[in-house]
Amino acid sequence: MIAVENLKDFKLEDVKIDPFWNRGTEKEQKIHRIHAYPAKFPAFITTKALEYWSNNSNNPPERIADMFCGCGTTAFEARRNSINFWGCDINPVATLIAKTKSRKYQSRRLQKYYGAIINDYTKRSIQDHFDFAPDRLKYWYSREQYNELAHLKEVILSTTPENSDYRLYFLCGFSNILKTTSRWLTKSIKPQIDPTKNPAKAIDAFKEQINIMITANTEIDNLGEAESYIMTGSFLDDSWKIPAIDMIITSPPYVTSYEYADLHQLSSLWLGYVDDYRGLREGTIGSLHHDYNFNKELKRLNSTGLKIVNLLLDQHKSKAMAVAKYFLDMQRVAQKAYSILNTNGKALFVIGNTEYKNVRIDNAKHLSESMLDAGFSSISLTKRKISNKILTPYRDERGKFTSNSMGRKVYSEEFIIIGRKDI
Ligand SMILES: C[S@@+](CC[C@H](N)C(=O)[O-])C[C@H]1O[C@@H](n2cnc3c(N)ncnc32)[C@H](O)[C@@H]1O
Repeated sequence: MIAVENLKDFKLEDVKIDPFWNRGTEKEQKIHRIHAYPAKFPAFITTKALEYWSNNSNNPPERIADMFCGCGTTAFEARRNSINFWGCDINPVATLIAKTKSRKYQSRRLQKYYGAIINDYTKRSIQDHFDFAPDRLKYWYSREQYNELAHLKEVILSTTPENSDYRLYFLCGFSNILKTTSRWLTKSIKPQIDPTKNPAKAIDAFKEQINIMITANTEIDNLGEAESYIMTGSFLDDSWKIPAIDMIITSPPYVTSYEYADLHQLSSLWLGYVDDYRGLREGTIGSLHHDYNFNKELKRLNSTGLKIVNLLLDQHKSKAMAVAKYFLDMQRVAQKAYSILNTNGKALFVIGNTEYKNVRIDNAKHLSESMLDAGFSSISLTKRKISNKILTPYRDERGKFTSNSMGRKVYSEEFIIIGRKDI
């Protein structure tokens, strides 16, 4: 780890990979894989962060927060360690998964509802509602696929108690089969139709999914009694009352990164979170408002942010505006993160850098400066290797990995930035 005191002479290239953050020591619990989620971080990041905390502090943290909680990796690990948790995410699909992962379920009741769902699905006849389906769903499903899924959803709603954790559980399972049962090109990070695909049947996919989920639940050895609050909305919404936090463990969205709203359009539409999935982009970090005054806002950028935006401005004005908005939002995130921490609290951010047309977008340096400006002290920074199946750092125009360096560059390492609140 290297200390960040003076950003002027600081070069991120000098930061060495720290193997401590590369790999976990235990196998990740199956519960972390019950629903696909892009940019999920490995669960061992939380374990390592807690280890880091205990090396520097006598008592365990009382409450952890993750304000970009995604599919609830930190939320679940906090609960497993009997530590209270507060988290939020602007994406309702993320909080659906995060809640499902951090609630306690009785196997007997899960089996009972599951049996009832399968029974009712087979017993009741499937109605044809396709003509009334939203156009966007008609685009992704054939009449038969749509009707089977609508029937399954209806059965889940009628067999599980309203507002119960059990309904949440089966809707989460339902959400994760919506791509395999549609024409969505498998594994693509961009929404596009696969004309050659033979989509899975809803009931088969659902059975397989719930079996995976039930097995994952059986594996969970201990879920403590700690509190877990997971909210849907923007961290930058100041109307929330957030409890005091000892440690933040989070990974913010990266600039020029995945469009979560587009990727989760099937779940959002089926579960009724939005009428138009594009509405989900609103309020996400870096999203532009129609009344965004670029020239005025530019003045609030810190020096790292300003330098990068100026490099982009010459040739890529709209990209420069988007990056500037992202940086400004992240400056507010650093300030708000500082404000919710107790004295001696710590914040750990996992963040990667990107590149746009040969301009390096140094999110890590920008966040380090934002944290210094927000009042954090003892900021230290280290680097980890992203060790999943990524074999090449490039993506083609369809969003698939490619060895062709003409593709868009993606990151294969990321930074861990830790700061402390002294007073
Ligand atoms: C890198 S992902 C976090 C992944 C998470 N660590 C996990 O393991 O699943 C970043 C998350 O930030 C969320 N996000 C974007 N803008 C937000 C905002 N204004 N407030 C809260 N969450 C936001 C996205 O929906 C996304 O889930």
